[in-house]
Amino acid sequence: MTQTIAIIGSSWGDEGKGKLVDFVSKTADIAVRFQGGNNAGHTVVVNNKRYKFHLLPSAVIQNKIIVIANGVVIDPAVLFSELEYIRTEGFNPKLIVSSTAHIIFPFHNYIDELEEEHKELHAAGTTKRGIGPCYSDKASRYGIRVFDLIHPEIFRSKWDKLVEVRKRFVESMGGEWNFDIKAIFQQYVEYGKRLEPFVRDTAYYLNEALDQGKRIVFEGAQGSLLCIDHGMYPYGTSSTTWAGGISAGTGISPKRIDKIVGIIKAYTSRVGGGPLPTELHDETGNLIREQGNEYGTTTGRPRRIGWIDLVNLKYACMLNRYDALSISLLDVLGGIKKLKLCVKYIRNGEELDTWPIQSEIIQECNPKYIEMPGWKTLPEEQWSKTAQQGYHALPKEMRDYIETIETYLKVPISFISIGPNRNDSIVRNPIW
Ligand code: GDP
Ligand code: IMO
Ligand code: MG
Repeated sequence: MTQTIAIIGSSWGDEGKGKLVDFVSKTADIAVRFQGGNNAGHTVVVNNKRYKFHLLPSAVIQNKIIVIANGVVIDPAVLFSELEYIRTEGFNPKLIVSSTAHIIFPFHNYIDELEEEHKELHAAGTTKRGIGPCYSDKASRYGIRVFDLIHPEIFRSKWDKLVEVRKRFVESMGGEWNFDIKAIFQQYVEYGKRLEPFVRDTAYYLNEALDQGKRIVFEGAQGSLLCIDHGMYPYGTSSTTWAGGISAGTGISPKRIDKIVGIIKAYTSRVGGGPLPTELHDETGNLIREQGNEYGTTTGRPRRIGWIDLVNLKYACMLNRYDALSISLLDVLGGIKKLKLCVKYIRNGEELDTWPIQSEIIQECNPKYIEMPGWKTLPEEQWSKTAQQGYHALPKEMRDYIETIETYLKVPISFISIGPNRNDSIVRNPIW
């Protein structure tokens, strides 16, 4: 029996994780975020109403239990504003927060900005949400955790040292330390009081839930290629974004992860720095950006657009060993006569079919494409109707495109998304 399913982005984020998590959570009990923070922006559209989440698992609108586990970094201001937002939308979030998740403070956001400026060419183009600096404090063991916040005397005992090292750091970077530290401390003690009712030891909670037969969905944030270890360093994020991060970020054994589902986009998108071999700098790229509304959910930045890159997707498939794939945003390619799929890289006249990982080498790679005919563009309602009719109602060119990708990646494409709405999806194989 499948009890746990992970939904993992295969590339640079924004693959449509929110939509799939919402879908899969319908028949689950609990949904869990296990890494990242409010750098994430996950969208779910229900009857044309758009919900956006940065910290709360998208399953909140399915009225499931939602868990922010230990691997996540939490900006309490964002958490509370998101709770308020979803309550005003008429939901009653059943939230559980890990006592060992780390806390983002305002100076983390400022340090994020300073570091980005300092790195110049090697800047990742972060979301400036303080994610990297917070994980740095976690790794150096200066960090403050949820447990500390809800015990002001423990918080107090760690606070001065954290402030001292971060103040020195800011000054060494030429920044200005204008933080009212007393006020921030007080504000976070208040946050601690508000957080307390939600706090649990989530490793115990989740393992016991599994013992009782509950179903859990793990909601990945970012994408596999943004991973701190296996992504394109230094142009990624600061957490383990592929399925390997689930166990460390929750306290659930790898043996208890039953299925891993990868999401791919029908094309490539990316926000932030670093080489992108299939990037389009032309009218087709602009068309895809506009048709797909490819502007960051968190920062509003225009996303960089490229053709689908099967070389790096194959790498993500190897890492995650997906049981199934979901492909999203196929409708967006409607109207483009010839589609290109990158099947190899060419570097110094040599063909590569493995992802070189090092950004300096990827920079020197050119894509080798195969071409396929595209399909017609349709109004959104028409795609919705097509989704209800099932796989065989899709244009033949789209089915060929899907099946070519499937053959190349050697993973079944079980879900097909042809519109932003909850129901604009086709399920070829049941998930649970
Ligand atoms: P996530 O970060 O992986 O959850 O993805 P985002 O929400 O940041 O970005 C995906 C965007 O594509 C959102 O605006 C979704 O509403 C939208 N979307 C998801 N699937 C589809 C699809 O199949 N077609 C279209 N047109 N939009 C989609
Ligand atoms: P979701 O969950 C797309 C990118 C940033 C930057 C790099 C590091 O919505 O898919 P960070 O703020 O994490 O230190 O930035 O990672 N990035 C994302 N890109 N979607 C995301 O999340 C992202 N989260 C971070 O643009 O290049
Ligand atoms: Mg996103």
